[in-house]
Amino acid sequence: MEVTVKKADTLKTKPADQSKLGFGQIFTDHMFNMDYNPEKGWHNARIEPYGPIQMDPATMVLHYGQAIFEGMKAYRTEKGDIQLFRPRENFHRANASNRMLCIPQMDEGFVLDALKELLRLEKDWIPSAPGTSLYIRPTIIATDVFLGVRASDTYRFFIILSPVGAYYPEGFNPVKIWVTKRHVRAVRGGIGEAKTPGNYAASLYAGEKAHEEGFTQVLWLDGVEQKYVEEVGSMNIFFAIDGELITPVLNGSILPGVTRDSVIALARLWNIPCAERRISIDEVVEAQKAGKNVEIFGSGTAAVISPVGTIRYNDEDISIGNNDVGPLTLKFYNALTDIQYGRAEDPLGWIEKV
Ligand code: COI
Repeated sequence: MEVTVKKADTLKTKPADQSKLGFGQIFTDHMFNMDYNPEKGWHNARIEPYGPIQMDPATMVLHYGQAIFEGMKAYRTEKGDIQLFRPRENFHRANASNRMLCIPQMDEGFVLDALKELLRLEKDWIPSAPGTSLYIRPTIIATDVFLGVRASDTYRFFIILSPVGAYYPEGFNPVKIWVTKRHVRAVRGGIGEAKTPGNYAASLYAGEKAHEEGFTQVLWLDGVEQKYVEEVGSMNIFFAIDGELITPVLNGSILPGVTRDSVIALARLWNIPCAERRISIDEVVEAQKAGKNVEIFGSGTAAVISPVGTIRYNDEDISIGNNDVGPLTLKFYNALTDIQYGRAEDPLGWIEKV
């Protein structure tokens, strides 16, 4: 399939101060679009000026949330090259989410090529200040105009781009996480491992409560026993206890993060013991209280590697590793970002040039 290109007549002014980008507030001049219907499959692939999507108020995605999305980043290297980090994994995961949401599969190689074409057109939007990148948001929405509950017959796929800095206002300073037993994000047999808007909607109420209490995010426990750690919602979670790395095993209700997988792969490469297993929140709290060497960090495309300095559990604030960035957290942050920005070798073949 050809990708047609219609360029914008006028281009937006790019942000003057890249140190103030924040996350997901500014969008580039163009976007990629593609449509699906049962007769033609995915068709009408096109790069067009960025702009609003006009929808009938009865469009299915607005009512039943049948949609998936992805998050990845394009990085500008010191030499000025543009590169992606494991983009094939993201499109592969998008198809896994599609299966769970009854959305038709897409050609992963084709959408990656289309993304690269969009990035080449928008290359001047990729920021170069330290810690900045171009966030990429591929999304698929159900577009049938119908109010019955069933899977849509038609869909729209689009990719938008946003120059970003740090996801959390704290930057790389430790964040505060609220552990709740009162709220549940996803349960066994549900769609917690899909990257779909409903999972994020389910997290909002507890997220607001956490913010009211001065916490950045919610740490979700399993939906059955409310005992085992799952994820943070905007990132996966890792614990280092006396030098051993532990992350919750993927159980169907946890998002299989690409950064999560990369941390595990680097740990194996460096011979750092790393377990994917069930871990209870009590085990973590007891380790910290027993004076063990504890680090907690989150991993995600948007969050990169994000140190956790405090957790509130059972109304108690527990300081993790004196609220400092621990050595393992820093090691993973440096290694991943050095690969992503082309400052270091790419030992596992993760970089894709644009
Ligand atoms: C990402 O890390 O790309 C995410 O999608 C997390 C969040 C911003 C929704």
